[in-house]
Amino acid sequence: MEPALPNHIAVIMDGNGRWARMRGRPRVFGHRQGTETARETVRFFSDAGVKYLTLYTFSSENWKRPQREVDFLMNLMGEMVDREVPEMMERNVRMVVLGRKDLLPERGRRKLEEGERKTAGNTGMTLALAISYGGRQELVSAARKLAERAARGELKPEEIDEKAISDALYVPELPDVDLMIRTGGERRTSNFLPWQSVYAELYFSEKLWPDFTTGEMRQALDYYAKRDRRFGALNDDSAGDGQ
Ligand code: IPE
Ligand code: IPE
Ligand code: MG
Repeated sequence: MEPALPNHIAVIMDGNGRWARMRGRPRVFGHRQGTETARETVRFFSDAGVKYLTLYTFSSENWKRPQREVDFLMNLMGEMVDREVPEMMERNVRMVVLGRKDLLPERGRRKLEEGERKTAGNTGMTLALAISYGGRQELVSAARKLAERAARGELKPEEIDEKAISDALYVPELPDVDLMIRTGGERRTSNFLPWQSVYAELYFSEKLWPDFTTGEMRQALDYYAKRDRRFGALNDDSAGDGQ
């Protein structure tokens, strides 16, 4: 039997700044190097047959960083989309952006939307880029959408169920996260996909993001394949003896 493959992998790409500092370079040098790892990650997981990959690229809280770093990251994202769309076409990868696109600089936003448009017909892996994304902000926006529908008389409060909330998120079709990976040594999820990851398997790596290799990606998949995902039920072995 093939080992279980996660349907949706979410990655917190952390550690770029420290990687650069260790080399006596400015933090942004680490961000640039990190894009190389991001590209390898897309290649590796799409080759592995993963259907959804979400990369935490810029959080709602990252707006608090110095303006120069924010500007650099915004430019880098636009550049990356330009550079990577041809390979996404080759690999049949479709990109979507989740987050507060309205807060992004016009130029960057246009590039991201162009990438979404060009790859919209691709049927392989979906690459979701979480940009200006915060999980609580996403839930606030979902609550507002539902409240607006209720106020217009289109939705009764008792009709609000898990599906209604999922359908009101930024990208409703994004399935539950099966495996969440965080590099850089911290063991927290930093406002990333709270609704979608309640039952995610968590994989933490000490490696800084630019040092995260395909060997490490393989290890994360192996870790996932060994998990016994019970979702609150009992596993097959113990299901028979109810006493
Ligand atoms: C993650 O690396 C990339 C972004 C948040 C954009 P950091 O920039 O957080 O790097 P460290 O954690 O400071 O090393
Ligand atoms: C999380 O990393 C956000 C991204 C990787 C885009 P941070 O470096 O911003 O997270 P905290 O602040 O250490 O929790
Ligand atoms: Mg960090």
